[in-house]
Amino acid sequence: MNKNAFFITTPIYYVNAPCVHVGHGITTILADVRARFERLRGRDVFLSTGTDEHGSAVAKAAEKAGVTPQLFADQNATNFLATWKQFNISFDDFIRTTEQRHLQGVDTFLNALHASGYIYQGTYKGHYCTGCEAFKEPEDLVDGNCPIHKTKADYLEEKNWFFKLSALAPKVKALIENNTIRIMPEGRRNEVLGFLNGEVKDVSISRETVSWGIPLPFDEKQTTYVWIEALLNYITVIGFDRNMEHYKRYWEQAERVHTLGKDIIRFHCVIWPAMLLAVGFPLPHTLFVHAFLKSEGHKMSKSLGNVVYPDELAAKFGVDGARYVLFAETPVNDDGDIKQSSLGERYNAELKNNLGNLFSRLTVLAQKAKIVELRPDTQSKESKAFAKLVSTAWKNASSAIEQFDTRAYLAVAQQPLEAANKYIDTTKPWQIKESGELAPVLATAFELLRHGALLLSPIIPATFDTIGQSLHLQHSLPFAKKITWGAQPIAIPTNHIHLFHGVNTKK
Ligand code: MSP
Repeated sequence: MNKNAFFITTPIYYVNAPCVHVGHGITTILADVRARFERLRGRDVFLSTGTDEHGSAVAKAAEKAGVTPQLFADQNATNFLATWKQFNISFDDFIRTTEQRHLQGVDTFLNALHASGYIYQGTYKGHYCTGCEAFKEPEDLVDGNCPIHKTKADYLEEKNWFFKLSALAPKVKALIENNTIRIMPEGRRNEVLGFLNGEVKDVSISRETVSWGIPLPFDEKQTTYVWIEALLNYITVIGFDRNMEHYKRYWEQAERVHTLGKDIIRFHCVIWPAMLLAVGFPLPHTLFVHAFLKSEGHKMSKSLGNVVYPDELAAKFGVDGARYVLFAETPVNDDGDIKQSSLGERYNAELKNNLGNLFSRLTVLAQKAKIVELRPDTQSKESKAFAKLVSTAWKNASSAIEQFDTRAYLAVAQQPLEAANKYIDTTKPWQIKESGELAPVLATAFELLRHGALLLSPIIPATFDTIGQSLHLQHSLPFAKKITWGAQPIAIPTNHIHLFHGVNTKK
């Protein structure tokens, strides 16, 4: 394994949703923040996202809209792509499952699966929820309805190809138990192990009656079950099987991490590893599974009018502000609840005050004293204590982001900013008349700010670029230098830079 290479994915989103909602937003921002953090520490990162475009749900939605499924997918995939660009998501590729490159990789994989002996023909008898695009056991339904979509699951009886999941489940279980496959957080790992402790049935991998899909290469009358081909996006996006060198760099040799929501845990943590085991491909190392978000105490629904759309948050808080509050709201263990008033309070306190106001106060003080450059001291007792504070913060930030613990990460990233604010409250630099005495105080405060801003840079990249440019921070320094106290001079901007506007939390 190449310890430096890092591959991280988001789920690929169904194009039957016309635009991005907050559920898509949190996963994608989380993956982007992790990708940016890894790039910051110098790793060779590949971040993928995309759209899931086949299957009966998309076909039905297109029919309702009176357009072909392909045109429908084209329109909605464009919306997703535009939102991710607006949100500064640093994806390295965006895969659409109707692209030729995906079709080709799926064909090759399915042929390998066919040859593996892990698939066989049979008849599927049972229920199917189009909303979930999933086969349902009677115990999964409530009065015949899917509990997630509240719609009737259709009864199906059709010839399908099946994957011998039952034969591979014990292996998957052992690999999760010995942490070869790491499922985070712990509660989700236990959930998967609980499922694997029960009777695991074989799964259908094809559909006889759905034409909007990829035909099986060894049985053209059947299309590939949408979930099977969707999971394969994780390897087709990096070049399987057209650019094998690239595929090897980010799959075989890299650290492989998937992010996803709790509703799609079994597909990712059981079926996907089993598919890979069947053909002898390497498995994902880590799967981070987040919980769901409610809004103002209720499940988000159009009829309640409480659905949160990321672009509305961007209109209120700016793109970086929206990224920040969504990152903070990522529900890790339990379901979360978005409250507009608390988003505003967090934004005002942590971004506008702690960072934005600190930056302008320090800049104005330095400008008034006609200081053009500051060199943070590294020798005094006080500087050494602050140097320790920031180096501990960097250590803790690394472990928090590796755990996808967004709250812990933010708490750590705020520490240097809080320390800087406290420091200027005690040293009162506005009362210091002598510029020789003022400069070291401002240098210390600016250095704390620089660390806080750099820690926040994966979350608020555009703001960090503004700060970095105005303070002439050196972009190309190695990571170890960047995070060292006093390792670079800080220039004072000549103009006034306003980082964040305040928001009214009453609205
Ligand atoms: N197409 C599949 C994924 C295939 S990946 C190989 C799919 N698409 S989806 O568009 O429905 O995915 C939505 C993603 O958003 C999932 O990770 C899901 O968990 C997440 N969320 C949807 N609603 C959500 C909330 N209310 N809160 C948090 N996340 C939620 O599933």
